[in-house]
Amino acid sequence: MSDSDRLVTAARAAREHASAPYSNFKVGAALLTRGGKIYTGCNVENATYALTVCAERVALLKALSEGERDFTTIAVVADTASPTPPCGPCRQLLWEYCGDIRVILANLSAVSGEHQMRDLLPLPFDNRLLK
Ligand code: THU
Repeated sequence: MSDSDRLVTAARAAREHASAPYSNFKVGAALLTRGGKIYTGCNVENATYALTVCAERVALLKALSEGERDFTTIAVVADTASPTPPCGPCRQLLWEYCGDIRVILANLSAVSGEHQMRDLLPLPFDNRLLK
């Protein structure tokens, strides 16, 4: 199985764990390290709505908290005909911690888009501007 297939499969499985009783919009994500490990995440909502955490951020924070710092690809899966790309806050964090990784968008049956992070977050604010 290719890395891309492994990632999409892992993101689909992670999506099953989504806690999305308010939106009913379940999302799964799978983040691949350069060393070949996969960290998964799903969206987790709550009654205030505002504290919702997206699948991408859950996967990223799980990986970072395990000491991972080098990533190559993330897959994002939702049950939609058109691709579900990362939201703005997730793009900021993915750019800062993962850089120009590949972003694979898929639904339950097929891949629906492939992008590079630099194209999803043009003109980013990042630590280069803090120096
Ligand atoms: N969501 C994600 O988890 N990732 C995305 O890329 C888009 C949106 C979640 C947040 C919320 O729980 C639900 O989808 C609807 O916005």
